[in-house]
Amino acid sequence: MITDIEDLRILAKKRVPRMFYDYADSGSWTESTYRANQGDFQKLLLRQRVAVNLSDRSIKSQMVGQDVAMPVAIAPTGLTGMQHADGEILAARAAKRFGIPFTLSTMSICSIEDIAEGTDGHPFWFQLYVMRDRAFVERLIDRAKAAGCSALVLTLDLQISGQRHKDLKNGLAAPPKITFRNALNLASKPRWLLGMAGTRRRTLGNIFGHVEGVEELGSLAEWTARQFDPCLSWEDVRWIRQKWGGKLILKGIQDVDDARMAVGTGADAIIVSNHGGRQLDGAPSSIKALPAIVDAVGSQIEVHMDGGIRSGQDVLKAIALGAKGTYIGRAMLYGLGAGGEAGVTRALEIIHKELDLTMAFCGVTRLADVDRRIISDIT
Ligand code: FNR
Repeated sequence: MITDIEDLRILAKKRVPRMFYDYADSGSWTESTYRANQGDFQKLLLRQRVAVNLSDRSIKSQMVGQDVAMPVAIAPTGLTGMQHADGEILAARAAKRFGIPFTLSTMSICSIEDIAEGTDGHPFWFQLYVMRDRAFVERLIDRAKAAGCSALVLTLDLQISGQRHKDLKNGLAAPPKITFRNALNLASKPRWLLGMAGTRRRTLGNIFGHVEGVEELGSLAEWTARQFDPCLSWEDVRWIRQKWGGKLILKGIQDVDDARMAVGTGADAIIVSNHGGRQLDGAPSSIKALPAIVDAVGSQIEVHMDGGIRSGQDVLKAIALGAKGTYIGRAMLYGLGAGGEAGVTRALEIIHKELDLTMAFCGVTRLADVDRRIISDIT
């Protein structure tokens, strides 16, 4: 019986090939930031209040002016279609039904056009990586516009990549390279294999077939590795804002000075994020970095956060410390690996219920009334 996100993680670990499960469930180098993202949520204590009328409650909210059933969006995650066949389409459908935003990664398996088709044109968010090939960046922006995307999430913390030991040892690739070790592991995942046999989407859908000369896997991997632009600057952010013209969210802010720079670009929101502990190992957890950034820029720009959210209690703590919205990466991936679209829906239901009840235990009935007063100063 599935009662929490941890149950979904355990089931996903059984069903997803090791290479892709490890890709999701790991951080860079010593994984200290990855662990702190979850661990620091545990250190925050909530204040229980009693004898409050709790009969009429709402956790509905808005993110960048868009109505959300709860202040939780699905974070962009690469290779999601390798956790489960057609993974991005399934997760986008679950998000649509639930009434929360789905963010598609540049590095997804299903393409922008696949998501638009798979959700009957329901608006979703697109996450952009700035590549050296600026003509390709422009084409991605145009494709996102054509697909009706209602926000662009520009990720700023991956000009260069942190190292995840397991990905190197597993020889991570999509589709997976068949080595003796992989073949043994894949053979023990019949449900996953069956799903993959039934889809044509097994490689980077936004790139494959959209860039001249990268039609086969070897050149695709090489091209993407070379493409992340180490020269990315705030000037580029302004250029992208102009080119996009719609709601813009800057992802990967950890520092107050960078948050102030982000305000200057005219973006609509920032995401306090350390990329789920996958980039700078040794950086503070997101929940620790959040309050100072809210204090510095919260009155000028919407502040969102992600990293370590595995429960509604975590979401509530982030909202209490000033986040207007949150994102789930792994909590969604575990649901997807465990049970496809139904698994993602289950993850969202779990978080929704936990958030609603935890807010009520704190004596609050409207999410808009949640603030730092619900955090206990007893530590
Ligand atoms: C990510 N993340 C990420 N971010 C992004 O902007 N583009 C991407 O392609 C990816 N890819 C990616 C893959 C995987 C497997 C993970 C786990 C994460 C980071 C992601 O958007 C988000 O910041 C974190 O996942 C948040 O932390 P939690 O919720 O996973 O703890």
